[in-house]
Amino acid sequence: MFTFLFALCFISAANFAAGAQAPIIPQPMQFDMGQTTLTLASNFVFNSSSKSSTLVNAFERYKSLIFSHTSSPTGTMLGSLSVTVDSADENLGLDTDESYMLKIETSPASAELHAANVYGALHGLETFSQLVMYNFTADAYQISNAPWNINDKPRFPYRGLMIDTSRHFEPIRAVKQVLDAMAYAKLNVLHWHVVDSQSFPLQSVKYPKLWDGAYTGQERFTIDDAKDVVEYARQRGIWVLVEFDMPGHAASWCVGYPEICPAPDCTQPLNPATNATFDLIEGLLQEMTGVFPNQYIHLGGDEVNTNCWTKTPSVAAWMKSQNFTTDQAYMYFIERAHKIAHDVGRIPINWEEVFNHFGTQLDKESIIHVWLNHATAAKIVAAGYRCILSNSDVWYLDHLTVTWEKFYDNDPFQGISDPNQQKLMLGGEVCMWGETVDPSDIDQTIWPRAAAAAERLWSPQDVTDHDQFLQRLLAFRCLLNRRGIKAAPANNTQARSAPHGPGSCYKQ
Ligand code: ACM
Repeated sequence: MFTFLFALCFISAANFAAGAQAPIIPQPMQFDMGQTTLTLASNFVFNSSSKSSTLVNAFERYKSLIFSHTSSPTGTMLGSLSVTVDSADENLGLDTDESYMLKIETSPASAELHAANVYGALHGLETFSQLVMYNFTADAYQISNAPWNINDKPRFPYRGLMIDTSRHFEPIRAVKQVLDAMAYAKLNVLHWHVVDSQSFPLQSVKYPKLWDGAYTGQERFTIDDAKDVVEYARQRGIWVLVEFDMPGHAASWCVGYPEICPAPDCTQPLNPATNATFDLIEGLLQEMTGVFPNQYIHLGGDEVNTNCWTKTPSVAAWMKSQNFTTDQAYMYFIERAHKIAHDVGRIPINWEEVFNHFGTQLDKESIIHVWLNHATAAKIVAAGYRCILSNSDVWYLDHLTVTWEKFYDNDPFQGISDPNQQKLMLGGEVCMWGETVDPSDIDQTIWPRAAAAAERLWSPQDVTDHDQFLQRLLAFRCLLNRRGIKAAPANNTQARSAPHGPGSCYKQ
């Protein structure tokens, strides 16, 4: 037992000191560290003059995350972390300043966290929590390598994780568990691919038959559930980007509203030839602005196979009357959907195919989400569009043989050197498609590999060393496990598989 505990302490503290790196994922932008071990008082508190309930709730969460043992410390003590925020503005989105400064002094012992707003403070609290370790021998919570001086901010404003609640339903508790872990890795966007062809679990009050397309009466989200997810996410510095994928990937919509689909035996893409389709989309998106308050909406647009349009006589006749090729009908659909998005006050995001088909015909506000080919990102920003990167070769979490190294090495600036074009690269997102995940395996399929992408999206571009990252990744995975997230061993060749045999969590 003693040897095992000793090994834990050795790996978690001394090894980091030897490599002069912070035991934090993602690695902060700038940090200085010392050589002193600081002990936290047993009545340690977080304090702030801010009355923000977001901050007060975070204090409660981090108290419970950090202090899971009782302790009887002796010697010089750190009694508090004082938190100051400049602005009480709690709007959250792409423009939010997420920076923070964390200063931990040794003589006298003090700790201060300063941020522009509450969301930077949340990141600072996470960093602080990763510096504190319980020393079982000393029966004390300690911070190694103090003093610390950390000046941190993300490299990219969009650091996402996508979940797919259509291919398998994920109950609210599972979604919240994903959000908890995202906050630990400083990811800030939950892209919620809420519906697809297989099921439509989300309630719409305006179109109450839409969730007739749910798998069952139980596998559903009420509007209040969705609002609850949005608020739970916001409390953790995460905004929710909802996706209604259209016109493809939408067969489940026809269960309740067959009139918006070409034919009963040929259900998608959605029928572009009838206003019923666009009326429903408008009503749905309008309603969803009351649920998802951020400026953006993901309208999918991927994998549109127009066979059902040519095979359905009424749609084929409509295309002929408009003098449209199938591609022009696809463009017509995208343009109408974009207009609806703008009319309800939202900026549309589409998957890459929409750019590949229509290029600069798209309105310049549109954001393109790359998944097919990393190289398209350079073309998108060169054409003046903003871009989000999720190239499926290395940032799709359902690809179980893709190792953390591949997730880590994927740089959004690859092939983009012009600083003006780099500004259009908003960041990226790892995608957890749902065909083979449900609550039984979602955590271990996402984690710890998503943490490698999280560091790529937060830390400076030159933080690329695999050996150093692996040290931190192993420790982060153990931290996730301690916090109740079922992250799999980091060095799996097949993601989410169980450990091969006995061994420390820090070595798997
Ligand atoms: C996608 O994977 N079809 C975006």
